[in-house]
Amino acid sequence: MKVISLVGARPQFVKEAVINWEFRKQGITEILVHSGQHYDYNMSDIFFKSLDIKSPDYNLNVGSATHGQMTGRILEAFEAIVIKEKPDMVLVYGDTNTTLAGAIASVKLKVPIAHVEAGIRQKPKDMPEEINRVLTDRISNFLFCPSMLSVKNLDCEGIKDGVEFVGDTMYDVYTKMEKLFDTSQALKEYGLEKNGFVLATIHRDFNTDNPEKLSQIIDGLNRLSKEIKVLFPIHPRTKKLATTLGKKMLFDVTDPIGYLQLQALVKSSRLVVTDSGGLQKESYYAGKRGVIVMPDTGWRELTDCGWNILSSPSQIYENTIKAMNERMAYPDNIYGNGDAAAKITKAILQ
Ligand code: UD1
Repeated sequence: MKVISLVGARPQFVKEAVINWEFRKQGITEILVHSGQHYDYNMSDIFFKSLDIKSPDYNLNVGSATHGQMTGRILEAFEAIVIKEKPDMVLVYGDTNTTLAGAIASVKLKVPIAHVEAGIRQKPKDMPEEINRVLTDRISNFLFCPSMLSVKNLDCEGIKDGVEFVGDTMYDVYTKMEKLFDTSQALKEYGLEKNGFVLATIHRDFNTDNPEKLSQIIDGLNRLSKEIKVLFPIHPRTKKLATTLGKKMLFDVTDPIGYLQLQALVKSSRLVVTDSGGLQKESYYAGKRGVIVMPDTGWRELTDCGWNILSSPSQIYENTIKAMNERMAYPDNIYGNGDAAAKITKAILQ
């Protein structure tokens, strides 16, 4: 059995890692293709090294571009690889432009598509990730769902065939790598104290590309940093737009951080403020609450039970203080048992 996996952006390397380990165990030949959507060392290579992912067999090196250009370039280059390699199946992950391009190339060549992290839905409906998810799910043959809600979302859209609840692959990675999270080293490196800081990340276009919202986010974090230390690993897009805005960031800003060290920091933090889909679950896995700077989230189980709080950019300070002072029982077992990759592999072999 020969499978092509297509990845390109940070969270996809994490999801791919656990599939890659499982495929090696089960003797499935995996051709790994990197689209090159993320290319800086801290956005790409560091994940391959720390998660022991095999080096990509192909790198399409598309780099950054407009959505249409990026999707089009990946589509064209990936199609050539699928024609050459003649796989039995193509695996795509999550909701990026790389995901959509891979799915379109494959469906046109009549190669079955497996979508890892299918069925997630959120508003605004015109956010690029939502467009990528909806379209990819529409043309996928195997839809591996991370949550029961994602199964229900697909059902509501009339998608039933090939749908399976497997749990979150990011939870698999988390449980398998947890022993390697070196919290003392991470705290020392960033000059922090256990439970004495808030970890914040922001990169979504609806937050970064709107100067008013970005300004409110920086104001909120500035205000928060007067009460508790704030560590902000900054995505390159956010850095560019914050620099243009010219607003002073009074908290600790650092380059993007690789998987192991970031998880060590999440585990040591008091709380997480983020608009990242991955981090809002990883903070939950670490037993930390999250303030989610989004109008809506695809990981609604965590906001419905109150563990994570949705926040507008202007309410970050108030919501973070509220969550820090509130006690809450830990809601267990939301995203499976940490065996999503084994279930995916079993389904693929069958
Ligand atoms: C992408 C995904 C998003 C995912 C996120 C994880 C889409 C539409 N979005 O968003 O689902 O949550 O990755 O981080 O695919 N840049 C660099 N160096 C890099 C990569 C990017 O400088 O290695 C800069 C470039 O200016 C680029 C911008 O970041 O234009 C945005 O990168 P892009 O991959 O287009 O989108 P993300 O915001 O990273």
